[in-house]
Amino acid sequence: MISCIRRAKTKLLIAFLFSLATTFGLSTPGAAQGGVGLKPEDPAIVSAGEALYKNNCVVCHSVGDDVVVGPGLKGINERRAQPWLISWIKNSQALIQSGDKDAVAVYNQFNKQAMPSFAFSDEEVVSILTYIKSAESVAAETAGPASGAETAPGQNVGTDAVGAVGGYLDIVLVVLIVVLIVLVVTLLLITSLLKNYLNKNKQLDEYDAEVVNQRFDFSKVYKSKAVRTLVVLIFVVVLLDLGLNKVMGIGIQEGYAPKQPIAFSHKLHAGEHQIDCNYCHTTVYKGKSASIPSANICMNCHSQIKAESPEIQKIYKAIERNKPIEWVRIHNLPDLAYFNHAQHTQVAGVECQTCHGPIQEMEVVYQYSPLTMGWCIDCHRETPLNTEGNAYYDNLVKLHEQSSKGAFTVASNGGTECSKCHY
Ligand code: HEC
Ligand code: HEC
Ligand code: HEC
Ligand code: HEC
Ligand code: HEC
Ligand code: HEC
Repeated sequence: MISCIRRAKTKLLIAFLFSLATTFGLSTPGAAQGGVGLKPEDPAIVSAGEALYKNNCVVCHSVGDDVVVGPGLKGINERRAQPWLISWIKNSQALIQSGDKDAVAVYNQFNKQAMPSFAFSDEEVVSILTYIKSAESVAAETAGPASGAETAPGQNVGTDAVGAVGGYLDIVLVVLIVVLIVLVVTLLLITSLLKNYLNKNKQLDEYDAEVVNQRFDFSKVYKSKAVRTLVVLIFVVVLLDLGLNKVMGIGIQEGYAPKQPIAFSHKLHAGEHQIDCNYCHTTVYKGKSASIPSANICMNCHSQIKAESPEIQKIYKAIERNKPIEWVRIHNLPDLAYFNHAQHTQVAGVECQTCHGPIQEMEVVYQYSPLTMGWCIDCHRETPLNTEGNAYYDNLVKLHEQSSKGAFTVASNGGTECSKCHY
């Protein structure tokens, strides 16, 4: 019942914000452009590099100083020679085994974690390096809170439409309060000046003197109807604001890692034994949802492997009883949002790890990304569309190039319109 009311309220809220957003042009493609400040000279290379970086490197690296899994890549172009970087990124293990001093040093410094190899061409590696360089200079030019959020990938600061509106309201409120305080202080000063002046320089009759020297009567103020209404109003507004923030926080479960009925390890299966994700999540490249494997898929191997282990016996029992294994669901968007895996994995070519983190290292899966609206929209604003070899986009790309100089991002194709994600 309560959740039903909440859903109805949310629908109303969406409709309201929908109209707000259209009024303020929040959802128009142009509005999203300003955020991605790239160097004017080679935007094509930079945006190609950005896409490669976001799809392959962001999981383990930041373009700043922060260590994620590997070192922060700020200043990497100065720290290392380009040929070194190209061979490192293509195959760091080979470079380490060749005995290169620098390579062995970073490898040891990061506890001999092997960075994966990438089958990139030299141009592709150079484009990534160009992007890293441009991200540094963008950060240096516009050192503010907004650019801070942009230069720290992996950290998903929610700057969604709802948050932006809330931010403006806060600023307006603070300004109003400051103006009010200044007004009150000035008025008090004027009264006291006038009072002194009148008392000193004018002969007042008894009645006037009483008025001028009247004490400020708090109980009168307290009893006044206007003041009471005002206090109640302020109270209600504060409560509503708190309530709204609570509602916005519902369902954000970053780091959620429930105990599963069988001690299944992605680190063992996807990491050490390198079983493809879609061997088990069979619809992840074809369908809306990724799907959780049935016990039969486990049996392809476990009819032979470790069949006597108590954990594996649980799979046998499930099959005997003809009951599915009751895995606890970790990622769960509310019904009001539409998300499609195939669109992101197959069409856009986004790696699982960009959204789900280093699953192949997880003993127990946890929710890596916040899965908030701001998170979806931030990525849609920053990510260029993967249009190569996709005839569907040929005309759209031409149209975009005529009307705008920025990268052809998901957002510029309408990926921040409310109706794309909300039915
Ligand atoms: C799974 C995690 C992971 C991914 C993905 C990854 N790296 Fe790394 N990277 C590391 C680790 C860890 C190191 C530290 C050296 C070591 O332990 O091998 C490193 C080191 C580096 C270095 C050397 C830094 C230095 O100070 O010399 C560069 C350059 C680099 N990575 C670039 C990239 C680029 C570019 C990508 C994307 C194409 C990428 N990495 C993807 C984990 C990763
Ligand atoms: C051998 C089969 C298998 C392979 C291979 C596998 N998974 Fe899984 N995956 C599972 C099972 C079983 C679950 C449910 C239990 C759990 O959460 O650990 C699961 C759960 C998940 C979840 C959480 C689902 C939820 O409840 O929200 C994600 C995300 C995930 N896998 C991603 C991946 C990715 C990415 C890869 C490849 C790197 C991968 N999986 C490879 C079997 C597999
Ligand atoms: C493609 C083959 C393959 C598939 C499919 C597979 N596994 Fe495994 N699994 C392995 C291998 C290999 C091991 C490691 C065995 C060892 O340590 O000797 C393993 C180990 C395990 C273990 C640890 C057993 C122990 O006692 O050490 C569990 C639990 C497990 N798997 C559960 C599952 C579940 C649940 C599924 C289905 C969602 C599944 N596996 C699917 C290959 C597979
Ligand atoms: C663009 C971000 C993104 C990418 C890329 C992505 N996922 Fe997901 N994944 C999600 C979201 C969001 C959900 C929650 C969906 C929901 O609740 O409807 C999810 C849910 C899941 C689940 C839980 C079951 C389900 O289908 O809802 C599994 C398993 C999963 N993902 C596996 C994968 C695998 C494997 C890959 C890579 C082949 C992958 N994901 C790539 C965002 C992503
Ligand atoms: C890592 C980046 C990334 C994240 C995170 C992400 N998306 Fe996307 N999304 C993309 C890309 C890239 C495309 C473009 C796919 C294409 O070429 O059609 C896209 C396309 C879409 C589309 C189709 C848009 C259109 O114009 O047809 C929808 C709907 C969508 N995403 C929903 C979501 C939702 C909902 C979430 C959050 C739960 C989300 N996305 C998170 C990268 C992302
Ligand atoms: C790229 C996909 C995407 C777009 C575009 C999008 N949303 Fe959302 N929205 C989401 C997701 C995902 C959620 C669920 C977030 C959560 O559970 O925290 C959500 C939740 C909401 C909620 C409910 C908040 C709550 O706490 O339940 C409202 C209201 C909302 N969106 C309004 C809008 C409006 C208005 C627009 C147009 C300006 C819009 N959305 C555009 C993905 C999107």
